[in-house]
Amino acid sequence: MRELFRMDRQNYNPEGNVYRRPSARAVILKDGKVLLNYVSKFDCYEFPGGGIEAGETPEQAVQREVTEETGRIVVPESVREFGIVIRRQQDSKDPDGIFEQENYYYFCDVTDECVPRKPDEHEILDGAEPVWVESLAIPIHRNRKAFGRLGEPFIQREMRVMDMADKALRKQSWKMTEDAAIRSLGSADYRGMLSFVEHTLEGSQTEGEKAIGVHKLEFGYTRYEHTKRVLGWAKRLYDATPDKAGLRYEDLMIATIFHDVGRAVALQTGEDHAQAGVPITRNWLLSNGYDPARAEYIAGLVGSHSEKWRMHDPAIDRNLLMLMEADLLDDMGLLGIVMDTMIVRARKTDATFFDCYNHYECYTHPMQHDCPVVTKEARAFWDMKTESTDRFVEQYRKDILLGGENYIGYR
Ligand SMILES: [Fe+2]
Ligand SMILES: [Fe+2]
Repeated sequence: MRELFRMDRQNYNPEGNVYRRPSARAVILKDGKVLLNYVSKFDCYEFPGGGIEAGETPEQAVQREVTEETGRIVVPESVREFGIVIRRQQDSKDPDGIFEQENYYYFCDVTDECVPRKPDEHEILDGAEPVWVESLAIPIHRNRKAFGRLGEPFIQREMRVMDMADKALRKQSWKMTEDAAIRSLGSADYRGMLSFVEHTLEGSQTEGEKAIGVHKLEFGYTRYEHTKRVLGWAKRLYDATPDKAGLRYEDLMIATIFHDVGRAVALQTGEDHAQAGVPITRNWLLSNGYDPARAEYIAGLVGSHSEKWRMHDPAIDRNLLMLMEADLLDDMGLLGIVMDTMIVRARKTDATFFDCYNHYECYTHPMQHDCPVVTKEARAFWDMKTESTDRFVEQYRKDILLGGENYIGYR
């Protein structure tokens, strides 16, 4: 089993006798909630579980412990490894000995059934009760406070494991949310197209753009994530537009997915990234059975998406316009503020709150107020973003500057 982390106090005689008390604990997720024990004596939370008995495997122990402590039944074949935490410290009974605890953590599913709990004496004394929590964020926060107060290593251990489990569960939830969104786009193979684009963009572009000083890439900004966000905006714009004359939904979605695919080769060839995307898009579509005329049309949208000056041409193709507007809506609003904050920090490692403020005022704010989109629907989204950044910047100035509410400007 992989090691999650190690808690070694190094306060023991390394030659001393080793006393082992291995335990097994469960991370149980059901209907979006996590099953924990709340321990009132310490005002903290722990994963259900406990000591492994003689002759028991950790997998058997976790199932028995969950039922005893929570009255829930673990589905045996659902038990999957999460990781192990090793604790080593001076033994409390033998000052010359080493207390070593291997804590095995498993992800488990439970059935709907509830049976009577059988808490042991110790659990009754500590006031341990099973609870279902919506998220691990609050238990983590509680444990942090409890550990600060009591310094109990088991609270710290549970807090750290919860933090890791939280990240794993969140990642899973983001992926499921995104997968559902991709399915809801329609029946075309959008997943396959996105995987192709992700694979094509991988690596090459990040290093290349970093070399020419594109700061947003210094904190993991990727074209692939940008592509998915633009896809979200294209879908929202399409849905919000009542007059669908001339709009070709599927072609718009496909062109959006491929719009920046040329970034992968553009850096090497010096070509315009939109133009570089044309043959890549065309080839993918042709080799996946798309009609040549349609492949040409979609590749054409990709090839023209940078020509933003055409947005004001009343004769512009509506699909091209929608792609351009979706592209422009990304990287703005509060995402823009966060991104710019990261840029300030990437450029200047000792950046202060005031440096960030100056950047918002001199860069983020003017950009946000120079609305480039033309349709009513895109403007509505743009204005929503502008409103949120204006409110943010105003409050932020009050937060960082003594007297910020009476800021006097240049004098
Ligand atoms: Fe682009
Ligand atoms: Fe783009």
